Amino acid sequence: MLVKNNARQLKQELSEGLHVASVITMCVVMTLIMLVLGTFITDRYKTIVVPKDLYFPQYTIVTKTHSSSIWFCQKSSPSSLGRVVEFTDSNGLVDLWHSMNDEELMEKAMRVPHVAGYPGKLAFMFLTRGSLPLGLFWEKFFKGHEGLYSIYLHTSPDFDYEPPNTSVFYKRRIPSKHVQWGKPSMIDAERRLLANALLDLHNQRFILVSETCIPLFNFTTIYNYLMKANQSFLNSFDDPRKIGRGRYNKRMSPTITLQDWRKGSQWFEVNRQLGIEIISDKMYYNIFRNHCLPPCYMDEHYLPTLVNKVRPDLTTNTTMTWTDWSGGGSHPATFRKNDITEAFLHHVRYDESNCTYNGGNSSICFLFARKFHPSTLEPLLKFASGLFGFSS
Ligand SMILES: *[C@@H]1O[C@H](CO)[C@@H](O)[C@H](O)[C@H]1NC(C)=O
Ligand SMILES: *[C@@H]1O[C@H](CO)[C@@H](O)[C@H](O)[C@H]1NC(C)=O
Ligand SMILES: *[C@@H]1O[C@H](CO)[C@@H](O)[C@H](O)[C@H]1NC(C)=O
Ligand SMILES: *[C@@H]1O[C@H](CO)[C@@H](O)[C@H](O)[C@H]1NC(C)=O
Ligand SMILES: *[C@@H]1O[C@H](CO)[C@@H](O)[C@H](O)[C@H]1NC(C)=O
Ligand SMILES: *[C@@H]1O[C@H](CO)[C@@H](O)[C@H](O)[C@H]1NC(C)=O
Repeated sequence: MLVKNNARQLKQELSEGLHVASVITMCVVMTLIMLVLGTFITDRYKTIVVPKDLYFPQYTIVTKTHSSSIWFCQKSSPSSLGRVVEFTDSNGLVDLWHSMNDEELMEKAMRVPHVAGYPGKLAFMFLTRGSLPLGLFWEKFFKGHEGLYSIYLHTSPDFDYEPPNTSVFYKRRIPSKHVQWGKPSMIDAERRLLANALLDLHNQRFILVSETCIPLFNFTTIYNYLMKANQSFLNSFDDPRKIGRGRYNKRMSPTITLQDWRKGSQWFEVNRQLGIEIISDKMYYNIFRNHCLPPCYMDEHYLPTLVNKVRPDLTTNTTMTWTDWSGGGSHPATFRKNDITEAFLHHVRYDESNCTYNGGNSSICFLFARKFHPSTLEPLLKFASGLFGFSS
């Protein structure tokens, strides 16, 4: 601006037909162009070479803001929206209802730091159709642990109910799209949840849960277990049967071979590093999209195979979400009101007592369980403060 004003003055003063004047004007204009170009190039250079977070070493001291989110932007380059980096604040008091499309969202999430800010938070990502039938139980679970968790809800896009502002689910919906079970749209929703959650630099562990899931231990136990775990819990195994290897499609080779092919539970728990790997993948995603067609279901094979290809060292290959498949068939058992007894809950929490954790033995095998019918809410609440040890 200053240079520009000077230039204008210069131009006025020397105007009347002086040859010198036009030469000077030329010079000034040239200088201006060089300056603008210079700024642009430095910007570009910084964008490519310097990790985004280094621009904003102070994001952690920003506390409650009235605004929906904190925008860090370089005023010198308003033209490039892509270079505006948005970080949510650490109190979760943010409007998640942004207007980015999926591509912009993934692009942004891919550039977040791999190491979470302190204190680390657990990101609970609910993949649900509407409101959570067991929401009250979850409310009790979260109570008293503000600042150590964040919640994200991917719902049906038609669902627009907002709970009262006292709820932990208040304004935690992310922009969502229709999901069809077993279709690529399911993976899209999971990636959308992950990408949104990655934008909060405090989120360290990312847990995908459904509306029929419940936590099996109190928040402190689950928090410590996950924060101290040196691997993620993304289920991945080789199932030699027809419902495993039988779903492999030869057209996926040579990028994905039968030896690479894996199966696993959809309900994962990943750390930041693996989360970034997942949302960054385009190659394997596209192969699955084109060649994993019924009876192949993307939600049973894509992530288990992806993690096996890109970072098998990052997962224990097991899931932390208990499911009862003992009835056989293609659907797990759903538990109802009368099933919820102390003995049953003890069985789910402790009976499989032969698990490993960070290389040692552990009495805890699962942190979450499914599938719980809405009618289980009442008995579950009854056990909340006693058996589950939720603070009341
Ligand atoms: C919560 O909502 C109530 C009314 O439903 C309102 O009176 C109150 O100010 C709100 N609190 C906050 C923190 O927004
Ligand atoms: C998980 O499985 C992969 C192969 O699919 C293997 O390389 C890796 O060592 C396994 N991890 C553990 C902890 O067993
Ligand atoms: C416990 O683990 C050992 C080896 O890891 C296995 O041989 C044994 O069968 C397991 N026991 C139970 C009850 O699952
Ligand atoms: C995790 O930690 C345990 C104990 O410190 C160690 O034995 C094990 O090798 C570690 N695993 C990985 C994958 O770093
Ligand atoms: C872990 O459990 C196995 C069998 O379940 C046992 O042989 C082993 O000694 C245990 N290790 C530790 C460190 O307790
Ligand atoms: C949480 O549960 C653990 C056992 O899993 C228990 O030792 C602890 O006291 C509980 N914490 C609270 C705050 O109730």
